[in-house]
Order: sequence, then C-alpha cells, then structure tokens
Amino acid sequence: MKKQQNWMIDEITCAGRENLDVVHVERYDKKEDAKADREVNLLQKMGFNSQSEIVEIGAGTGQFALIAATVCARVVAVDVSPVMLKQLRLKVEESGLSNIEAVQAGFLTYEHSGKQADFVYSRLALHHLPDFWKVIALKRIHRMMRTGGIFRLWDVVYDFNPDEIDKRIELFCNTLGEDIKKEWVREEMEEHIRDEHSTFRWLLEAMIKQCGFEIEDVNYSPDGFFGKYILRAI
Ligand SMILES: C[S@@+](CC[C@H](N)C(=O)[O-])C[C@H]1O[C@@H](n2cnc3c(N)ncnc32)[C@H](O)[C@@H]1O
Repeated sequence: MKKQQNWMIDEITCAGRENLDVVHVERYDKKEDAKADREVNLLQKMGFNSQSEIVEIGAGTGQFALIAATVCARVVAVDVSPVMLKQLRLKVEESGLSNIEAVQAGFLTYEHSGKQADFVYSRLALHHLPDFWKVIALKRIHRMMRTGGIFRLWDVVYDFNPDEIDKRIELFCNTLGEDIKKEWVREEMEEHIRDEHSTFRWLLEAMIKQCGFEIEDVNYSPDGFFGKYILRAI
C-alpha cells in the first residue's frame, strides 16, 4: 500500500487503535454482529446476484464478504488493518470460497481493477477518516462504480441537534443506544467520540451529494447514532 503524496494522511494511523489490536480482532465476531444475512438480502432486492461484483471497504473480519460471496461473482474485501485481514483470510480459507480477494488498502489507496463495481459496501468504517478525507474517499468510490450502481453505507453518524450534544454523547458512552451491544464498554465508546471522526448527518449528506450519489433510502436508529444509506451512483 503506497502513500502517494507527502500530504496524504496515513490510513493505518487513523484505522482505530482496536482494529490493529490482535486481542480485539480475535474477539471481534463475538462482540459485533454485522447482520450480514440481512444486508445481503437487502442488496439482493436491488439486483445483487450471481453476475454482480462488489467491493467492500473496511471489511474487517469478513462477516459480510463471506456471505456476499455465496451469492455473487466477485467480492473484493479491502481493509487497511493487516490484523483484520489475517482473520478474514483464515475464514476465507476455511470456507473454501474462491471468489473473495482480500486486499490490504484503504478508502484512499485502493485501486480498483477489472470491470466497474456494481455494488460497494461499507459498514462502520468511513468514520475513521476526517471529513476532508471522507470526501476524497466518496469521490474515489464513485469513480470505481458503474453509473446506476449501489453503494450501501452504514456508519456511526450523528443525527441530532448540536444543542443536544452533551445528553446524546452521554447516552452513547453509556452504551444505551439501540444498536450497541453490551460487549462494548464505556472506554471504547469514549474513544470513538474522542479519537475517531464520526460526523453530523447534515455534513455527511452534503458530502454524499457533492460526490455524485443520490440518496435513494436512508434510515437512522432512533437513538440518532447509526445511519444506513442506499446510495445510487449517478
Ligand atoms: C468497526 S470495524 C468494521 C468491520 C466490518 N465492516 C463490520 O461491519 O464488522 C472497522 C474496520 O474499518 C477498517 N478501516 C479503518 N480505516 C480504514 C480505511 N481508511 N480504509 C479501509 N478500512 C479501514 C478497520 O481496519 C476495521 O476493519
């Protein structure tokens, strides 16, 4: 993975401390359920089938990639963390699936080859980039997709009024939110707010539109922390 320009940020440095931590990564699948079956079903309703090619960015341990690969032609599972990728590759090997390519790269460095992607998938990963870099990432995703292709984006995004910050962040840190499993502890939630780059919904949606996507569907958890988007490349 090469750092093309001197002004480029280092995606590994921003990858999230825990995603480079062997103990966390080994426990990850017990801690976090990516609801991959449900996600793949949703994409199938939008035409994801045996001819489709999908790129997943921030693939982690491969919960989504492994299920997606059972119904489509090609999955490219991209992640910056060598620790996550090691786990993903082990699972791919055990599965016997031959249509998953694991690539160590990031939103800012992955170079897509082959035909333009029909689908792109990313869950709980884009928030690792500060907003300026999110725009570059979204632009790069748009370029790797065919016109009309679908980008499913699910991330921690703040959907509340800035006047409510103290109350809402306290709720998040106490892991009382709807989508947060109890395996996550307060210190990890505080670390997310402090060291990662989740942004406000109104900022993210402006970036999405600026980068050539139409918001076809959006759904937020009632606690206002998790945004799930269906974006169409136009
Ligand atoms: C919370 S995990 C989510 C993993 C998986 N998508 C899931 O839903 O279970 C975040 C993942 O994003 C990866 N990541 C962080 N920054 C990234 C970047 N700039 N480019 C690609 N992946 C990145 C991390 O290494 C980690 O695997």
